[in-house]
Amino acid sequence: MGFKAATGKRALGQVPTPPAAAAALAAWVAEARPRTLLEPGAGGFAFARAARRLLPDVMVTGVEVDADAVDRAFPAETIVADFLDPTALAGRTFDAILCNPPYVRHHYLDRAYKDEVAARLGARFGVRLSRLSGTHVYFLLRALELLAPGGRAAFLTGAEWLRARYGEAVLALLRERAWLRAVVTVRPEDDVFPGVLTTAAAILVEAAPGPCSVADDLTYREWLAAVPRGGVARARRPPVGVPLARWFRVRRGVATGANRFFVLTDGEARAHRLPRACLVPCVASPRDLTPRWLFRARRLCPAVRAYLRAGEADGVAERYLCRTRDPWWRVEDVAPAPILVAYMARGRVAIVENDGAVHLNLFHGIYPREGTPPALVRALGRWLASPAGQAALLGRARTYAGGLRKLEPRDLLAVPLPDDLHP
Ligand SMILES: C[S@@+](CC[C@H](N)C(=O)[O-])C[C@H]1O[C@@H](n2cnc3c(N)ncnc32)[C@H](O)[C@@H]1O
Repeated sequence: MGFKAATGKRALGQVPTPPAAAAALAAWVAEARPRTLLEPGAGGFAFARAARRLLPDVMVTGVEVDADAVDRAFPAETIVADFLDPTALAGRTFDAILCNPPYVRHHYLDRAYKDEVAARLGARFGVRLSRLSGTHVYFLLRALELLAPGGRAAFLTGAEWLRARYGEAVLALLRERAWLRAVVTVRPEDDVFPGVLTTAAAILVEAAPGPCSVADDLTYREWLAAVPRGGVARARRPPVGVPLARWFRVRRGVATGANRFFVLTDGEARAHRLPRACLVPCVASPRDLTPRWLFRARRLCPAVRAYLRAGEADGVAERYLCRTRDPWWRVEDVAPAPILVAYMARGRVAIVENDGAVHLNLFHGIYPREGTPPALVRALGRWLASPAGQAALLGRARTYAGGLRKLEPRDLLAVPLPDDLHP
């Protein structure tokens, strides 16, 4: 067993927990007066340190794979091992578990390792674990195996994965057993992990049936107060508004399969003498909003035939998407949308108020449903570009390695609209 790239901070998910956040999770767990406490991925023992302040006699065990990362000065039983190795703590259970699981994306994990861990933990809990799961999912399940009956476990993770299908499956598993006590998330604009582009969630679990509360989108201060109380947040704002899907539809942009052939500048269209009838205005990229032409042939006049022959000679017809179309050059027909939202973002999510151009697949198009007031369309465009709209978008986005954010159509549809946007 082992990691494909078991070196470096990223491959081991070495992001320390801020002391205030550690104290909040520790306080909830300490309320049950545990005698034994496990910190998987112990590193600097951020959680055990906070718990010890509340429970001076608690017996701490830490498991850490990186011998250099573990704080040996902290008084605890320290085991240098892979926490996912079933022999590491065989036969033991703990009254409390506190963990900020390493977020190691599945690409960094060796396939055989991933298969073995997913099969073993999946069988143990009766779920099919997606191979897209990162180590945090496996950590959570392994921790549940080690939790004593009635014990409490609290996990600090990013919030994005909870909305992915595999995250929902893990929460469903906890709900089925009625072990999930709370999921408490911080609003996206508040940084919990300095320098890391992710939102934070506390997942509180108790190995006994009971009720569950969910508090989303709290300020970091509110979150720090709610987590020790089992996720019960003080009432603050009116309920969040209706989702974007109530008034709008979302459609992916056109995938041409070969933009260098299908997307032309004015000059290129003229040079090939392409008739206006086979050219549709398009926007190809959030980084370059210069209008371009999308080649969408209708009638095969000599100039169009010559252009198609040139494309064939250039291998365009053999490109994957083109090969699957009949004829290879017929790109899909997508109506222009009044608002375009970039599919991927590193900082801001680009918003385009669009006037008649077809969007390519680096954008999603937002279309009003029948009966949506035109004023709401304009208001939506302005709001999405504002700091509040950007925060709402980023709150639904999934974060990938290097801080890249992606918004799928269903993420956009779920964006809650502020009440005062409605006419
Ligand atoms: C997010 S850090 C948390 C460190 C510390 N517990 C804290 O909260 O500040 C995750 C830790 O897990 C360790 N880790 C990564 N993979 C591991 C594995 N398979 N078994 C045990 N520890 C691992 C990393 O080296 C890192 O120290």
